[in-house]
Amino acid sequence: MQAIKITPGEALNEAEAQEFIRHIDNRIQAHLESVLESEMWRTLSDPKTDPALARAIFREVHLEIYSYQPHVTEASYLLISKMPKHDTELIRNLTLQELDEVDHGEMALKDYIALGGDEEFARSIRRTPAALAFDGMWWEFARSENPFCYMGAMYPFEGLTPEFSERAKRIMLGTGAQEDELGFVVFHAEEDIAHAALVRNTIKRVVMTYPGAAEHIEYGLECFMQLFPLPIWQFAYERALAMAGPGHSAASAS
Ligand SMILES: [Fe+2]
Repeated sequence: MQAIKITPGEALNEAEAQEFIRHIDNRIQAHLESVLESEMWRTLSDPKTDPALARAIFREVHLEIYSYQPHVTEASYLLISKMPKHDTELIRNLTLQELDEVDHGEMALKDYIALGGDEEFARSIRRTPAALAFDGMWWEFARSENPFCYMGAMYPFEGLTPEFSERAKRIMLGTGAQEDELGFVVFHAEEDIAHAALVRNTIKRVVMTYPGAAEHIEYGLECFMQLFPLPIWQFAYERALAMAGPGHSAASAS
């Protein structure tokens, strides 16, 4: 897909900002569709999949969330602190949005345990390479990139989470899971809709205020889509298959 034309050195006008938002929304929608076609998601959502395997995949994804999320929060605060210092509205909005996320790694761990995961194991293991790479992206944005990259990654992060959460909630309820084992997805199916709207409004204001911001935001989006979620979920999926043992296999190609 082609990038939209951005005039260097100028902020976008209202119509260009709207077009930019439409453009990144289309990119995110295409990314969502490609994830839903993946072997991992087809296996999770296939009614013929053994409910024990679906539960194991879902549980292991929560271990990944627990692993990467605290580092995303820490890097996010550094990134937010590098935003233009006179723009207190921008810094306040992003800070408050991130504040809502600070305990979500622990929220994921709670469900991981409720689904049969071992807390001591979770708290003692290293991140998977994919989770480390994802965390590394946020830190690298903070270390050496333009801080506006942050919004290009946070927007799809907030936008995709309710999409996956709502679908995963329905799938897991269908396998007999209890609502109290699904706290993370139940919560995020609702909460992140408002967060995505907040980041969308912030992006619009930023691209209309700061020349060049749209390019940085789009770069953040590109980096994010390389790293999230499939490389991370693949580790969860392979762990779940290994734990399920012989006789369990991936979804058919149908
Ligand atoms: Fe959120």
